[in-house]
Amino acid sequence: MKPKMLMCSPEYFGVEYVINPWMENQIHHIDRPQAHRQWEAFHRALSQQAEVFVLDPKPDMPDMVFTANAGLLVDGTFVLSRFKHPERQVEEPHFRDWFQHYAGDVAQLPDSIAFEGEGDALPQPGQDWIWAGYGFRTDLAAHRFIEQKVRRPVISLHLINPRFYHLDTCFCPLPDDRAMYYPDAFDADSLRCIESRIAPENRLLVSEEDAGHFACNTARVHDTLFMNHTSPALRRQLEVWGYRVALCPVDEFMKAGGANKCLTLVLDAADRPHTLHSA
Ligand code: ARG
Repeated sequence: MKPKMLMCSPEYFGVEYVINPWMENQIHHIDRPQAHRQWEAFHRALSQQAEVFVLDPKPDMPDMVFTANAGLLVDGTFVLSRFKHPERQVEEPHFRDWFQHYAGDVAQLPDSIAFEGEGDALPQPGQDWIWAGYGFRTDLAAHRFIEQKVRRPVISLHLINPRFYHLDTCFCPLPDDRAMYYPDAFDADSLRCIESRIAPENRLLVSEEDAGHFACNTARVHDTLFMNHTSPALRRQLEVWGYRVALCPVDEFMKAGGANKCLTLVLDAADRPHTLHSA
């Protein structure tokens, strides 16, 4: 069965304010035709493997293209994001309306608690728990809220590197109890927490160079990884695990601090539990 994913077309995409380090010195520096070409190519490639729904963009919401931040949909319950920055809070009603129609059940956090959706909350495929980041965009209190709403354990990870301000920029959970991640993005306790759940042979530690090209910000459909970039060494390791890497460069979107995963939200993973067979 094809997984279902959500994207939002990049008509109004741009860098018009600075809310993360990647956006610094990038205001009005997006090459729009190039951004459109990159988005279209990624959308086309992803559509071969997944059923992709496309949300209507809204003017004056240049970051709405990053649908991963709309919220988190687990077992039919959608937890709507409450953005940290006012610049993005205007997106909330549009995401809410779409999900009310799509999922019916929309849970909303109290006003004072920030949460930025799949940007900071990633289910471990084949397991019941959800990894969640805090420290920049999402409050720890949101983790407890999610736990109650979707009735699954939420494992909190403390993000400490401002360039990796969302969990999905530095952590990518994979089937078969595996994960690839950039260790320098986490504090020592969080690294221990990851290590307690992911066995040594199932950890893929991503180099600074790969992490800096958002290798962890991978959109996965079954055994295909849609990536902005990978070094030959990382690609080899992923292939040994049985993955096929589909390179879809989105560097225009990196100027806003996001790549392939940020441009998608999982509506239905369709592969839980799922076992991959190594090559
Ligand atoms: N400019 C956007 C922001 O700072 C980028 C969002 C990237 N999304 C993600 N899921 N990491 O909010």
